[in-house]
Amino acid sequence: MTDKKTFYITTPIYYPSDKLHIGHTYTTVLADAMARFKRLQGYDVMFLTGTDEHGQKIQDKAAAKGVTPQEYVDNIVSGIVKLWDTMEISYDDFIRTTQPRHEKRVQEIFLKMYNKGDIYKSEYEGMYCKQCESFWTESQLVDGKCPDCGRPVEKAKEEAYFFKLSNYSDKLKEMLTTTDFLRPQSRVNEMLSFIDQGLQDLCISRTSFDWGVQVPIDPKHVIYVWLDALSNYITALGYPDVDGTGAEKFEKYWPCDYHLVGKEIVRFHSLIWPAMLMSLDIPVPKHVLGHGWLMFDGDKMSKSKGNVVDPVLLIERYGVDALKYFILREYTFGQDGNFTNEALINRINYDLANDLGNLVSRTVTMIDKYCGGIIPGAGKEEGPDAELKALTVSCRDKVAEKMDRFEFHLALDEIWNIVRRSNKYIDETTPWVLAKDESCKQRLDTVMHNLAEALRVVSILIYPFMHVTSDAMRTQLGLPTGDPCWEDTAVFDMLGGQKVEKTGLLFPRLDVKAEIEALEAIKEANMKAAQEAGGAEQAPAEEEAYEPYKETIEFSDFEKLDLRTGVITAAEKHPKADKLLVFQVDFGCETRQIISGVAASYKPEDCVGQKVIAVMNLAPRKLRGLESNGMILFGCGADGKHTFASADCKPGTVVG
Ligand code: MSP
Repeated sequence: MTDKKTFYITTPIYYPSDKLHIGHTYTTVLADAMARFKRLQGYDVMFLTGTDEHGQKIQDKAAAKGVTPQEYVDNIVSGIVKLWDTMEISYDDFIRTTQPRHEKRVQEIFLKMYNKGDIYKSEYEGMYCKQCESFWTESQLVDGKCPDCGRPVEKAKEEAYFFKLSNYSDKLKEMLTTTDFLRPQSRVNEMLSFIDQGLQDLCISRTSFDWGVQVPIDPKHVIYVWLDALSNYITALGYPDVDGTGAEKFEKYWPCDYHLVGKEIVRFHSLIWPAMLMSLDIPVPKHVLGHGWLMFDGDKMSKSKGNVVDPVLLIERYGVDALKYFILREYTFGQDGNFTNEALINRINYDLANDLGNLVSRTVTMIDKYCGGIIPGAGKEEGPDAELKALTVSCRDKVAEKMDRFEFHLALDEIWNIVRRSNKYIDETTPWVLAKDESCKQRLDTVMHNLAEALRVVSILIYPFMHVTSDAMRTQLGLPTGDPCWEDTAVFDMLGGQKVEKTGLLFPRLDVKAEIEALEAIKEANMKAAQEAGGAEQAPAEEEAYEPYKETIEFSDFEKLDLRTGVITAAEKHPKADKLLVFQVDFGCETRQIISGVAASYKPEDCVGQKVIAVMNLAPRKLRGLESNGMILFGCGADGKHTFASADCKPGTVVG
C-alpha cells in the first residue's frame, strides 16, 4: 500500500462506430497530459479510457456490414487501441462495455438501484434519437428534432423500466449550486434550467433490440446504453464487488477527480450520472469538465463531408509530439477551437523548430565546440544570469497553477517563456564572441552551463506534454531518460561533467507553402472521395443541418445587444444586388431601412406586414450603395433558406 495522494481522471468511452478523428483525440490528449503531469508531481494516478460498444446504432451498423455486432466492434476497437499506442497515451486501464467484468457489474448496479426502489416498470411512449441514444419528450424537441444533434427522432412505445430521476432533482440542484462539481459555469446554468423544466423519470431499458446488457430480472430487456456506459467509471475500479475479491481500486480512487467530457454529453454526466451514484449511495465525482469541440476550417468535422482530420496522417508527417503540442497549445479548454492546416504548420515551425529546436541545437553545438562536449559546472553569476535562473526555477509553480485550472495552453506558454528567455540570453551573452578571447573562457563556461540548466528544467516541465521530445533533449544533454524528477525543476545548478550528444534537429523546419499545399490536396481528395461515396457513406442530410454552438459569452456581452420587435411596412429588391431585399421597418418610435440577404427565400411583396426581431445597435453600413441600419434576425436552414424570427408583440418591444 502506498500513501501517495491519488488522482483519478477519465475520458468519455468512445463509440466504436467508426475510426476516431482528431476531435476524439483532443479529450484523450488532454487527459493524458494531465495524468502524466500528476504522475510527475508524485500522485498515484488512475487514468481510464475505453469504448462504449452497445446500442442500436452499433447493431444496425454491424447488420449493414453483414457481421455480428461483436465482430464489428472488435475490429474498430483494435484500431482505437492502436491509435492510442501510436499516440503513446498512458492510460492505466482500457474498459470495453462488452467485457464480462463490466457487464456483470452493470447488472449488479441495476439490481442495487432496483432494490433501493429507484427503478420501476412501466410503458414508454415518446421520441427517441437513435444517434444520441436519447429519449426526449415532445416539449424538449427543437423543431421536432433531437435538441442535442438536430437529427430526426422516431416515436417509440414499449414496456420499459424507469429510473426515478425526478426524485433527485433537489439533490442535483444543491450539488450544482453549492459545489464546483461542474465547469464551466455556463453549463451549470444550462443544467439548472433542465432541472427547472422538471426532470422526467428516465427510461432505462429497451426491448426493440438486443445488443446490450440484459436486465437481470427481465432478460427480454437490455439496459439503456447511457446507464451501461456511465457505469464504466466505477466498474473499471471493481465496483460493485461481485466476486468477493474486494473493490480495492474503488476504495482507493473513487470519487473521481475529473471526468473530461465534450459539451454535448455534459447533461448525461452532470444529471443522470450523479443521480445514479446518489441512488447507489456512493459519492459523486469531484468534477465534471465540459470542453468545446475542434472544428475544421470553421466547420463541424463529419465523415460524410470528408473533412475529418486523421491524427495518424499528421503523426506520420510531423511526429506524435508535434501533434500533441499543437492540440494542447493552440486551444483553450472549454471553448470551441478551429483546426487549420496553417495554424498547425505555423505552431510547428515557430514554437517547435524555431524556438525550442533551435535553442537545443545551438546550445549542444556550442558546448560541443567550445567546451569539448562536456557541460561545464556552475560559475560566477553575471549580467542576465540571475534573471534566467529566477525565471527558470519559478516556472514550475506557474505551470502547476495553470494545470490546476486546465489551462494547458498557458502552462505551455509559461515553459516557452524559459525557451524564449534562453534564446535572448544567447543573443545577450554572444558566446561566439567570448570564444574568441581566451580570457573569457570562464564566462563562456558559465553561459553554457546556464543554458544547459535552463534546457534541463524545460526537459522536465515538457515531459507530461511531449515526452518523446523531453527524452530526446535529455539524451542530447547526457541525462537519463524516462521518468524525470519534479523536484529537480526547483533547482538550477545541477549540471557539470555530462557529455552532450548531438543527435540532430528535434523539429526540422517545414516549408510552409509546400506543406499546406500537400495537406490541402489530401483534404480535397478526401472530400471528393466522400462525395463520390455518396449513398452508403453519406450521412443523413440532417447531419449537415446541425450547427454546433459558438463559444460561450458572458451575460454582459449579451446585454450589449439591443433587440426589438418591428413590423415591415415596405419591401423591394435591391436595385444593384440580386440577393438583397431592402426593408422599411416600423419600430414604433421610428421607421428604419434594413437590408437583408434573403431574396432567395422571400418575394418582397410577401414580407409586408411581417413581424420581425432586429438588432438595433449594430453599426449602420452601406450595402451596394444603400444604408442598412440594424439587422433583422432569421433562422437559416442547412439548405440556405431563411425564415423570419419574430415575436408576437407591438413594434418597439424590447426582446431579451
Ligand atoms: N459514448 C459516448 C460517451 C459515453 S461516456 C460514458 C460518446 N461517444 S463519442 O465517441 O461520440 O464521443 C466521445 C467524445 O468525443 C465526446 O466527449 C465528444 O465531445 C468528443 N468529440 C467528438 N468530436 C469532437 C470534436 N470534433 N472535438 C472535440 N471533441 C469531440 O459520446
